[in-house]
Amino acid sequence: MSTLPAPSEHAGHWQLDPETVFLNHGSYGACPTAVLEAQRRFRDQMEREPVRFFMLDIEAMLDLSREAVADFVGCDIEGLAFLPNVTQAVATIIDNLMLKPGDEVVVNDHEYSACVSTFTKAARRAGARVVKATIPFPTPSADAIYEAVMAVVTPRTRIALFSHITSPTALVFPAGRLTASLRARGVEVLIDGAHVPGQIPLDVRGINAHYYTANLHKWPCCPKGTAFLWVHPERRGGFEPLALSARAHLERADRDRFRALFDYIGTADYTGFLALPEAFAFLVSLEGSWEALEMRNRALTLEARRVVCDALGCEPATPDELVGTMATVVIPGVGLPSGGTAPGKYEDPLQEKLVENHRIQVPVWSLPSQGQRLLRISCQAYNSIAQYEYLAGALRVELAKE
Ligand SMILES: Cc1ncc(COP(=O)(O)O)c(C=O)c1O
Repeated sequence: MSTLPAPSEHAGHWQLDPETVFLNHGSYGACPTAVLEAQRRFRDQMEREPVRFFMLDIEAMLDLSREAVADFVGCDIEGLAFLPNVTQAVATIIDNLMLKPGDEVVVNDHEYSACVSTFTKAARRAGARVVKATIPFPTPSADAIYEAVMAVVTPRTRIALFSHITSPTALVFPAGRLTASLRARGVEVLIDGAHVPGQIPLDVRGINAHYYTANLHKWPCCPKGTAFLWVHPERRGGFEPLALSARAHLERADRDRFRALFDYIGTADYTGFLALPEAFAFLVSLEGSWEALEMRNRALTLEARRVVCDALGCEPATPDELVGTMATVVIPGVGLPSGGTAPGKYEDPLQEKLVENHRIQVPVWSLPSQGQRLLRISCQAYNSIAQYEYLAGALRVELAKE
């Protein structure tokens, strides 16, 4: 009989190890059994007749998923492409930009490193420059985020990239306001919404960025390898995938080129995308609607953050308005300069202690630009407040030993 705190009443729908207190939905998501079974049925269909599947069926099947995604995230189907993850979607956008010598690219110090690395590579090749805004953490307000980004915009700024919800610090950015001001300064906007669908309500068209990409394998709990990229009509003409498939040279009267190019980018497992409508329906069934699920998880996040902050004797790092269904707490100690993302081990020794001594999976990392050591909690339908109370006790024990 486990002595670990019980997860929520929904946890039985997931395949998560009952001997692990899983508080890191944010990094890779977690897919419920019913959704994996739906994907399995599409895999069976693919393997029964692969030629028919790839040559005749796949486009119409992807269109059904496209309609479900467009409805969920608030955009038109014509500019919606499926890609395996945000890392590749951002690389695809950057490749289409064709940066020029002297261009400036605005990022900030809370961005996911893959996106900054790809921009740095493209800028080096083009003779352009990456400019990094510093966003204070703890973060007093949405205004502080807005002002920090806008402060580094110059007449040379070609494009700005920002996360709608940041990875290390879980900040909800004022995406619409930033987009409107950047557009007014003649700057293109690329939004990394990796964590957004399923955490907070999303209206992609209303935000009006030039490019919006997000993961569906994170908060909507879809199969791994499911992300989308939406391209504004202003930038859709001539926009192409990184790799052109064996169908790319064909002139098609029956399908617009954007969708035809992105619907088949070589042989791969597209079944995760086909399972999206069933995944959405399953997640909605848990609490009755997306809104109810997001509200439940957000309320749990605010309560869990308070429990952890009380145990550490610290204040929350952000006002509630900047919180979705993850929260980052500044914990005692110095953050590692690498940010805590090295594979092959848990980089911060505290993360390893939490796994080894308490069976808690939660990320301990840092914001290298500002030196703090950070702990990020995630709250999904399978989590319960008892699990964060247990985390708070474990943190007290392990930090006292340091
Ligand atoms: C803000 C942000 N952007 C991009 C990514 C990359 O997502 P993926 O690994 O699915 O490409 C992540 C992953 O955690 C993220 O947090």
